[in-house]
Amino acid sequence: MFKKVTKSLAVLSAVSAFFVSCAFAEPIVIKFSHVVALDTPKGQAAEFFKKRGEELTQGKVKIEVYANSSLYKDKEEMEALQLGAVQMLAPSLAKFGPLGAKEFEVFDLPFIFNDYNDLHKVTKGPAGQMLLAKLEPMGIKGLAYWDNGFKSFSANTPIKTPDDLKAKKLRIQSSKVLEEQMRALKAIPQTMAFSEVYQALQTGVVDGTENPVSNFYTQKMNEVQKYMTITDHGYLGYAVIVNKKFWEELPADVRGQLETAMKEATDFANKIAKDKNDQDLEAVKATGKTTVTVLTPAERAVWRKALIPVHEKMASRIGKDTMDAVYQAVGFTK
Ligand code: LMR
Repeated sequence: MFKKVTKSLAVLSAVSAFFVSCAFAEPIVIKFSHVVALDTPKGQAAEFFKKRGEELTQGKVKIEVYANSSLYKDKEEMEALQLGAVQMLAPSLAKFGPLGAKEFEVFDLPFIFNDYNDLHKVTKGPAGQMLLAKLEPMGIKGLAYWDNGFKSFSANTPIKTPDDLKAKKLRIQSSKVLEEQMRALKAIPQTMAFSEVYQALQTGVVDGTENPVSNFYTQKMNEVQKYMTITDHGYLGYAVIVNKKFWEELPADVRGQLETAMKEATDFANKIAKDKNDQDLEAVKATGKTTVTVLTPAERAVWRKALIPVHEKMASRIGKDTMDAVYQAVGFTK
């Protein structure tokens, strides 16, 4: 009898311990760090992912989004991801070179994509998947591509032809293709973290830069750049990445729910990116602080001619396989 009671008590306490531990189980925390403002395609998509990820995992996962370089700047966030200090990032495709994934700089080649449609032939196709797979040996898993937009040049002097940027100090992201692009314009490239660009423009450490309009406007660069020319000479967008070990060790059901949330966030990002850039262009014009120039097709062709040699110069860095895969996907011809 005594033995029976002890046994039932033991079972009872094991069952209640199980329920207590479920009720008080700590959620899995995903720290998602990025460098842009909230009101940008990436900023909005990260918030969307947080909301949907937490909903679908029903409290099992807490997603903390740190916007605007509030946790880490560009270079530090890559290191933090590999060390496991953050779990998720969405760096621009121009920032994978220093990690050793030089192939990603194919996205930085001037005039490689005519429009978003061309871009999606890569990001939604086998070439995009092949590139994400290259991150795995670095302890990183690529989950998705999120769109931003096409870049324009800005400075404090008018920009109409490539010669107008000659000898100007121009801020770039950490990509050798972008460095070569600026050299093709006879400008002086200066690699700099995104969080430092406004001040560098304000103090004259650099004379100008290149951005999709959404980044230009949300960082208030219109306050410190008098001229912007819509060149659409190159693309800037993102790969959403996670620490591979962290991702693979998630319970399978949770990982599946997060994959669904990521898919929805990706559709959302890619749906809003163009509109956001278009709206921000109108907003820049409305500030009256930056004069916006739109090029005629003939004027734009002059930029293309000046920048196309960058492809050949950077082919060995990017690698033949990657160049061929992307050229083929978009049907690129010089
Ligand atoms: C930049 O550094 O200009 C961009 O990569 C910032 C961003 O994440 O869009």
